[in-house]
Amino acid sequence: MVDFHEDPGPGTGRRAARADFLSDAPRLSLNGRWRFRLSATAQGTGPGLPDPELDDSGWDTIRVPSHWVLEGHDRPLYTNTAYPFPIDPPRLPDDNPTGDYRLRFDLPDDWPQGWAGGRTVLRFQGVDSCGTVWLNGTLLGHSKGSRLPFEFDVTEAVRPRGNLLAVRVQRWSSGSYLEDQDMWWLPGVFRDVELLSRPAGGIDDFTVSASYDASDGSGALLVTADAPGLVEVPALGVAVPTGDRAAVPHVQPWSAERPRLYRGTLTAAGETIELAIGFRSVEIAGGRLLVNGAPVLFRGVNRHEHHPERGRALDRDTMIRDIELMKRHNVNAVRTAHYPPHPEFLRLCDEYGLWVVDECDIETHGFIYAGWEGNPPAEPMWREALLDRTRRMVERDKNHPSVVIWSLGNESGSGAAFGDIERWIRERDPSRPLHYERDPSYRHSDFYSLMYPSLDDLERIGQRKEEPPEGVAAESPDDVRRRGLPFLLCEYAHAMGNGPGSLADYQAILESYERFCGAFVWEWIDHGLAGPGGTFLHGGDIDYEPNGGRYCLDGLLFPDRTPSPGLAELRKAIEPVGITVEAGEVAVTNKYDTVDLGHLEFRWRVEVDGIPAGHGGTLAVPPCGPRETARVPMPEAEVASEGETWITIEAVLATATRWAPAGHVIAFTQTRLGTTPHHRPPLPATSTGRPRALDGLRLGEAVFDARTGRLVRLGGVELTGPVLDVWRAPTENDRGQGPRNALAADWEAVGLDRFLHRTGDVERPDDRTLVVHGRSGPATRTLGFRTTYTWQRRDGALHLRIDAEPVGDWHDTAYGHLTVSPPRMGARFSLPGGYTDVEWFGLGPGESYADSRAAARVGRFALPIDALQTPYVVPQENGNHVETRWLELRGPGLPALRVDGEPHLDFTARRWTSEALQAGQLLDSGRVWLNLDHGQQGVGSASCGPALPERYRVPVRRHSWSMTLSA
Ligand code: GAL
Repeated sequence: MVDFHEDPGPGTGRRAARADFLSDAPRLSLNGRWRFRLSATAQGTGPGLPDPELDDSGWDTIRVPSHWVLEGHDRPLYTNTAYPFPIDPPRLPDDNPTGDYRLRFDLPDDWPQGWAGGRTVLRFQGVDSCGTVWLNGTLLGHSKGSRLPFEFDVTEAVRPRGNLLAVRVQRWSSGSYLEDQDMWWLPGVFRDVELLSRPAGGIDDFTVSASYDASDGSGALLVTADAPGLVEVPALGVAVPTGDRAAVPHVQPWSAERPRLYRGTLTAAGETIELAIGFRSVEIAGGRLLVNGAPVLFRGVNRHEHHPERGRALDRDTMIRDIELMKRHNVNAVRTAHYPPHPEFLRLCDEYGLWVVDECDIETHGFIYAGWEGNPPAEPMWREALLDRTRRMVERDKNHPSVVIWSLGNESGSGAAFGDIERWIRERDPSRPLHYERDPSYRHSDFYSLMYPSLDDLERIGQRKEEPPEGVAAESPDDVRRRGLPFLLCEYAHAMGNGPGSLADYQAILESYERFCGAFVWEWIDHGLAGPGGTFLHGGDIDYEPNGGRYCLDGLLFPDRTPSPGLAELRKAIEPVGITVEAGEVAVTNKYDTVDLGHLEFRWRVEVDGIPAGHGGTLAVPPCGPRETARVPMPEAEVASEGETWITIEAVLATATRWAPAGHVIAFTQTRLGTTPHHRPPLPATSTGRPRALDGLRLGEAVFDARTGRLVRLGGVELTGPVLDVWRAPTENDRGQGPRNALAADWEAVGLDRFLHRTGDVERPDDRTLVVHGRSGPATRTLGFRTTYTWQRRDGALHLRIDAEPVGDWHDTAYGHLTVSPPRMGARFSLPGGYTDVEWFGLGPGESYADSRAAARVGRFALPIDALQTPYVVPQENGNHVETRWLELRGPGLPALRVDGEPHLDFTARRWTSEALQAGQLLDSGRVWLNLDHGQQGVGSASCGPALPERYRVPVRRHSWSMTLSA
């Protein structure tokens, strides 16, 4: 029996690649339950698999499409860059789990057959990692290229009744060497299987070219096909034979912002094919990317296909969910990282409107462990396989208006094959530019492109002043050409755990230079797999080495598609309308690339201390074209006689769209109109009495522990604190990617996670003041803070001022040059567990950090303590709120505890300590742990990317902050 899986060739027996389309020709889905047996080696169940007589009644059944490792057979594996087999191309180890599939099926009675009825085609939309296929005992062929379709002509082999389709799928094949993407290895027949009737004399493949001329608004339509047909587009009055160009004097162009599709038909012998035509032209001119003659800016995400139960076997509803979530969060572009998606996804992108960078199923990242020796793109043996993947992508997806760029693949080094691929695509489809990031010469790319540059580097790139990539000489032809290219940021803002930070900073730079055509956040969704009890598993949860651990959890959505705070932040950072209030005017900047603001309504409202002040209205924003600014007078709003008066202006959808209801907020801004101090009763006169004895320390309602000097009771509230708190449960980004930016390792090296506290002198300068001196620092070190807590009774409330003065040596001996900065400068209190709710005035409602706070607005919010926790799959710091003016904790039967900042505090409130959070023990400790902090460092995105900018760290210097507590 022939064994194809180690053959580096792409396949045998397959039909030529062609467009994916919908038509009224008969189609039979073969999805459903198939017979299935998993074996340990590539030989599977042996040579009898295709034999129709084989008794498979004892086999398991499995659903198709699916991945067998998610259906109870063997286990999923996750690696980032590593090949889970020895690098010995194109060979694979003997241990090679192999799934044998069998399906019996009949044709419907009316299935056209034989020459007169046309051909019957068997199509697989995706088989991971390869498939060898037999029908009724006849070998049809085999194919590799997991995320691409393949077809066999089965006209001669298929029978009206009692067909036996057999498929052997090896988990590892030569194709796996080309599919080393950072994701789960998920074998199986994971996309649809179908039988298609292809009418005699009909069209098999066709190419739609629908260009748009921005200078006069005209379109040109040309449909070419491999058989004659009639192209009809009723809305345009077009009815032309294939091969004839139809000039349309006036069309509405297609864009992601206004995805105007002209529905039509292509009628050929025996079949009517659906056309969804979008007129648009993509070009690179003057070092910029232009669509329909105008620049575009991708506000993009990298999207893997992922579902926690189904892996990459996504259903249509999930695809729609992704698109709706993207559109609602102002995302306008998708890079199909790192393989062509299910074809339905692209149809939906055409309809809903998303710019698509369609990326080929090619990644050879693991050759990094071979010093790139033998890298497939550089080895002739692989040329055909690489070209085959490219052809199958381009042919399948060529008719989608949403696809504006072809990406040759991801992280596959360089090699001659990329030259061949480039030449082939340019000839086949000159209408779209090409992208490839990893070849430093950029010869095969129409874009300069990088991943994860720092803000400073991005700025230089915008100015076309970047250093040449390694190996490229300054002023060499490659250097000069690259500098002239537009820049596409194919990955940035690694959304692992709590983060990414700096989204607004990146966006500000991306919007400042003409060279930029946009950016794609890494990545859309956490690849967590459903585990027991509602948990999600990552690579490290599977007993297999090597594995990429938690690195698959780096998305803007949690695995179940709940948006993370990072997605809310992205939505604000990339909002397509800029609203600013300046000098008595509201300036509205249209940041869309193609549409005016006619679809939006501008609403304003006034709040005082977060309470609606009863006035508001709408702004009449004059017509404002793409990239233009309109100005309107500031609405008349009074500043309240007490408190903070804020105006909020929102741009909302005026009418419902396909992806969001009317009123959906697209953009907003807030401006403080004024602050008027609250009228408080005057302070009682300062006592001149002598200090009292230290025991039974009391200040009015407040009782202190005489030994520690800590507050233990305030009126009816039993509490303990504060304890100087410089620690936070490290985020994934705090753990960084190496010595350069692994802040948490530095913190732990110097002991910031294990401060010990000493109480020094406790002074009573007068009968309304208590001063507690102390020192906090870790064992083995001199570093720490000298602390002074000054308590004062004021107006029946308790005022606290904290001064923390750094002492000792803050250098990290592991990386001697570094001064370690603490993640937090805060004060921790412990409160009775009966507190259940927090209300606050400040930024909210979601969490906010120094470098991730654009999405938070000023307002009054109330949430249960349990709802303040963000359920990052890997427990880590979360739920902080910057710039909190005041907060109030409440619980049944307990006096409310109120804290006023002076002016602001950061707060977190949880049922567990930071230490328990770090250990992943999210169990009710019976207490509420309340942090009232001077600040916390930003979150950054250093798990894959630059170190956290200095300005978002907590400096080692004297910190002082104050608050008032009252029960
Ligand atoms: C990039 C890569 C992605 C992913 C990311 C880190 O280098 O293209 O696939 O691995 O890093 O999460």
